[in-house]
Amino acid sequence: MINNDKRKYLILTYGCQMNVHESEKLAGILEDNGYEPCTDAVSADIVVFNTCAIRESAEQKIFGNIGELKNIKLAKPDMIIAIGGCMSQQQKYADEIMKRYPFVDIIFGTHNLADFDKFLKSRINSGKKVVNITEDETIALRDKLHICRTSGVNAWVNIMYGCNNFCTYCIVPYVRGREVSRPEEDILLEVKGLISEGYKQITLLGQNVNSYKGLDEHGNEVTFAKLLLDIDELAGDFRIRFMTSHPKDLSDEVIDVISKSKHICHGIHLPVQSGSDKILASMNRKYTKEQYLNLINKIKDKIPDAEFTTDIIVGFPGETEEDFNETIDVIKKVEYMQIFGFLYSKRKGTVAEKMKDQIDTKTKKERLSKLLAVKNEIVNRMCQNMLGKTYSVLVESYNENGVLYGSLDSGKTITFKGSKNCVGEFVDVKVVQVRKSVLYGEIVDDERIKDFKEKSFKNPLEVSILPKDQKSMKLLRENKNKKKLQNDFKSKN
Ligand code: SAH
Ligand code: SF4
Ligand code: F3S
Repeated sequence: MINNDKRKYLILTYGCQMNVHESEKLAGILEDNGYEPCTDAVSADIVVFNTCAIRESAEQKIFGNIGELKNIKLAKPDMIIAIGGCMSQQQKYADEIMKRYPFVDIIFGTHNLADFDKFLKSRINSGKKVVNITEDETIALRDKLHICRTSGVNAWVNIMYGCNNFCTYCIVPYVRGREVSRPEEDILLEVKGLISEGYKQITLLGQNVNSYKGLDEHGNEVTFAKLLLDIDELAGDFRIRFMTSHPKDLSDEVIDVISKSKHICHGIHLPVQSGSDKILASMNRKYTKEQYLNLINKIKDKIPDAEFTTDIIVGFPGETEEDFNETIDVIKKVEYMQIFGFLYSKRKGTVAEKMKDQIDTKTKKERLSKLLAVKNEIVNRMCQNMLGKTYSVLVESYNENGVLYGSLDSGKTITFKGSKNCVGEFVDVKVVQVRKSVLYGEIVDDERIKDFKEKSFKNPLEVSILPKDQKSMKLLRENKNKKKLQNDFKSKN
């Protein structure tokens, strides 16, 4: 039910799962302040951008989207525009935003997200702009925030913040600061609570979860393997995923815990970035192609049904055709179920920015499309092999046409027909059709289904903070006519 008296918020999220989860924390703060969500900037009383700085393309999109709000702000001066996240955490971007977009009201960073409540109240009470960024990364650990979860049956849980790895292409360590791990007790308490609330998938988040080093309640150090083990021992019907794993730190103990666990998924995201030893060294990844492939084989030995996904950057400075072919070779050997391929993007302040032999855009694009063609061929073949087989599927969302979307243990998604009461349940689904690597299935006759009840999860397809769901900006773009926009406002208010 829409309550017309309530003020409305819209959060636009860019970037990784870390940001999606932080948007859930921002949503919690806004709801505590009496706001309720809406799905377009035209109706919003406050628009919060949760930004990403990983690639130039992300930044350009965000700058463009902020610019598009100018006309709305002209027509509706009381609307608050706030910019947080990885772009604004960097002083130079905060300065640029203030200069290019003077109509922005609040600028804050990733470290002081928990203080957004204070910034919002200050802006409302004083009418003055708030610009507040801090370099202190430990303050993220102090947050005990109300989290407004919107990812359906999946719940994100931060286990650590920051990154110490300084891969030479990457801006994250400069933005997110050094690694800090949450105490194990806090994590276990949060996970237990989520399981008892009915969440069926817990995804542990960190830039490099393998280097988690928390303390238990007695002050003893807890490794990632021990944390996984302790979560796996909790009672309940749930899955555990984690991201992201740096290959150099994935220990034998972790592999062992996964192989014996009841709850940990066998789909593992293990970013390789490149298959060339020369490029890997230049990226400061600290492993060779052979070490990476040995690691994959070790996992496959211990966990025969393990499936892998990865991140790859093409066109890193100095990458020759030969280097690129090494990457293709890794793809063929590992047979990834999914690959997130990126064109290398120069980031100011990183080591790679200054490297010679930067690759031209045309070559980068050609390599990426070749990589994706090889990937598609492999994924399609693997999907064809799944035809006729039955898998346990967690039902995650539904649409009005009675179509359900779920995920396999590997993380692969599947589409099938069924009742929306199935959302939040594990059901057996047989793969009956594969089209362009998309799986279609049928629920295997199951007596339990008639007893399933509708749950109160927010349907991920309907919430507005997810990165895919940037409908509101599209709506703005379609509405280019400034006069019309302003008239719309007048008639709305
Ligand atoms: N901490 C995670 C993810 C970091 S960002 C990890 O180490 O895997 C997600 C992905 O973005 C990276 O894995 C990398 O493939 C890509 N990426 C990071 N910086 C990039 C850049 N400058 N240009 C292109 N892709 C980049
Ligand atoms: Fe970036 Fe490397 Fe850290 Fe991942 S591990 S966040 S790619 S520096
Ligand atoms: Fe982007 Fe920040 Fe994540 S730079 S990828 S939102 S950590």
